[in-house]
Amino acid sequence: MRVGVLGTGHVGLITCLSLAAVGHRVVGTDTDGDKIRALRDGHAPFFEPRAEEVLDRCLRQGNLVFSERTSDAVSGADVVFICVGTPPRTTGEANLAAVEGAARQVARAADGPLVVAEKSTVPAGTADRIKRTIVLERRELDDTVEVVSNPEFLREGSALQDAHHPDRILVGAASDPAFEVMRRLYAPFVKRGARLIETDIATAELAKHACNAFLALKISYVNALARMCERAGGDVEAVADVMGADPRIGRDFLNAGLGYGGYCFPKDLVAFERLGAQLGYDFRLLAEVVRINEQAVEAAVDKIHDALWNLEGKRIALFGLAFKPGTDDVRFSQALALAQRLLAQGASVVGYDPHATQNAAAALDGLEVAESAYEAARDAHCIVLCTDWEEFRELDLTKLAEIVAYPVLVDGRNFLNGPRVAASGFTYHAMGRPPIAPAGTASGA
Ligand code: UGA
Repeated sequence: MRVGVLGTGHVGLITCLSLAAVGHRVVGTDTDGDKIRALRDGHAPFFEPRAEEVLDRCLRQGNLVFSERTSDAVSGADVVFICVGTPPRTTGEANLAAVEGAARQVARAADGPLVVAEKSTVPAGTADRIKRTIVLERRELDDTVEVVSNPEFLREGSALQDAHHPDRILVGAASDPAFEVMRRLYAPFVKRGARLIETDIATAELAKHACNAFLALKISYVNALARMCERAGGDVEAVADVMGADPRIGRDFLNAGLGYGGYCFPKDLVAFERLGAQLGYDFRLLAEVVRINEQAVEAAVDKIHDALWNLEGKRIALFGLAFKPGTDDVRFSQALALAQRLLAQGASVVGYDPHATQNAAAALDGLEVAESAYEAARDAHCIVLCTDWEEFRELDLTKLAEIVAYPVLVDGRNFLNGPRVAASGFTYHAMGRPPIAPAGTASGA
């Protein structure tokens, strides 16, 4: 089938790659000309495992092309995906101006029957607004252009794996012909075992927000438990294991730490709450989820304070700056939220990340960056592990203990083996778990 994709960011580019990889003919467009030129040369605009390898293969096979002109993606297409950004407004609502702009361009360029699929995460009611925009632009009630909701469930860092082998594909549509087009499009994925779920449009739109909000709720729940464990002297990891042993609860997304970041959960939570308010429903549980998430960073600041006393003149090394491992994305990263608070209290902050160092340096004034974890740790009074990159498991702890100013480590992701860290001479502070004093001492630093 012929597919157009408007917007080649994290969602759009992965959509291009996964659909081209199963044999569809895909045209990706973006308003950013530099991005399009780089993509044509095989360079992805962000780090995502295997993205450039698949991009290169699709470009060579010739079934994926990139263009700056929307009309190239829309003319003759069976399906056009809207994957443009929906950044938060200062009020927290999603700014849908780019979605409207994309809808207008589709309306002008459509030259035959077409399904327009909204993939960007949007509030319920957006598909209807897209349809109304298309009707206004074309100045006719036109049934040849159908709008469907087809939210994505990709996770950054494993986006291609998720796109190639989705556990579910969600399509919300208003007519059988539109469902039929989407069934044909996704047939290769269903053949591989993906479950295609068909709903009405409002349900699909709501379900996407509902999933993200629920996952964020699980994280905040376990972080609230971490605060309880810290006060009661319990171990949140053991509590989460007990909870996770109940299949009705499940262990996934019960990892306590600095909380959730990234370009999905933080903005989707607030947008979902705002949508509730617009609809006349006070969904204040979501505000509480956000509050507990902010408190998780404060809890780390408190641990650093407790270990170092005053922060003025202290040097803090952050291991990991991306909002999660496997990506160079630092948007709404908890590591940067922590850095900001530490800087505000007079500490100097130096960060290292396997892939996100440059993005982090550009995003936060005052943050120093280092080429390696060891360089960051040199003369630091405290190391804080902020992102659970696998390479941090391989660190030479003895070497680290020798080069730091004070051997204090705060594990913001409960990721390292605490007794091993302490055996190397560090005081080990975890989130929601008792601290461990360095080997050979009775209490922590
Ligand atoms: C999330 C969802 O998991 C995807 O299903 C969804 O498609 C995507 O948002 C989206 O809406 O586009 P993503 O933001 O890539 O994916 O990252 P997650 O793996 O969900 O992690 C989000 C944050 O939660 C990270 O900062 C991570 O460190 C944190 N987290 C995750 C925890 O603090 N604890 C956990 O137990 C799990």
